[in-house]
Amino acid sequence: MKRDLISIDDLGRADLERYLALAAKVEGLEPEAKRDKLPGRVLAVMFFEPSTRTRLSFESAMCRLGGSVLGFSEAASTSAAKGESLRDTARTVERYAGQMVIRPPREGAARAAAEATGVPVINAGDGANQHPSQTLLDLYTIQKFFGGLKKGLRIALVGDLKYSRTIHSLVQALALFEGLEFHLVSPPALRLPGYLMETGAARKASFHESEDLRAAIRRSDVLYMTRIQKERFPDVLDYEKVKDAYVLNREMLEEAPRGLRVMHPLPRVNEIAADVDETGHAGYFEQVGHGLVVRQAVLLDLLGVAPGPTTTTRCCTSRRSRRGRSSTTSPPASGSRSWRSSTATRR
Ligand code: CP
Repeated sequence: MKRDLISIDDLGRADLERYLALAAKVEGLEPEAKRDKLPGRVLAVMFFEPSTRTRLSFESAMCRLGGSVLGFSEAASTSAAKGESLRDTARTVERYAGQMVIRPPREGAARAAAEATGVPVINAGDGANQHPSQTLLDLYTIQKFFGGLKKGLRIALVGDLKYSRTIHSLVQALALFEGLEFHLVSPPALRLPGYLMETGAARKASFHESEDLRAAIRRSDVLYMTRIQKERFPDVLDYEKVKDAYVLNREMLEEAPRGLRVMHPLPRVNEIAADVDETGHAGYFEQVGHGLVVRQAVLLDLLGVAPGPTTTTRCCTSRRSRRGRSSTTSPPASGSRSWRSSTATRR
């Protein structure tokens, strides 16, 4: 049966730990040892929304594993602009490629593509819903910074907690590791959605909500900043009210614990001033770098190829398969109308 990476909600703690261990193995390999891992394999990168890191890191990951890449980086250059459905696009592309990375604008659409096709599909961010490979690299980064996801680790999530898919995936993942402490820092209009608060509570995560960034800085080990995402606001006037809510600068970090690390999925706009880059707290470009090995691990794993010197352990099939889980088990943070329309296309 083929496997996909669509939502962190599909994974348990053991799955996350397995991905982190695979990424560490991949990181330990010499470049020459990776080059013959996926010869002849083709990855389709299908980006209907803008991307720099996710698209290019997947492309680099595949190329460095010996495979090749095809795809597009905007809907306007595809037959979606002529009205083709995502499902038809995905069912076409599976004839050309053995794996797909897809960033659709609608929540739930990556799962719909996975269910319509017989090749592994990786969700590279579906609207405001999920961004699971980003979460894997975030976990990998925290593990590298702190030697593991240890009890007592204090994590502040700052900014747009309502629309940020990276936050939604990350909260679900971190809540699986008991004993972490969360500080949720946002304007009232951008609070973490209720279903994620409930997920956290069910997993006994300890959430403290506040609007006070300076207080969170004083009591955190990880300060995970996010961009306020203009493109997700139904009314731009609401965006204007909160766009500068949190701007981290070097002076604010003077009160930080010595070991605090600042993370950000990037791109940033103005929420981290450039003077933070030169402090020992800045961790976001190291974080970006981890995307390469984590995504190599994901590509190898979904194709059943071991990262070590061994050869193929199980074969990717093109058999059609249905996932056992319903996409409705992972409700989106917002936009329930688009959620309904996307699930309606599932077969
Ligand atoms: N973090 C992230 O998803 O970045 P891109 O939008 O550049 O891919």
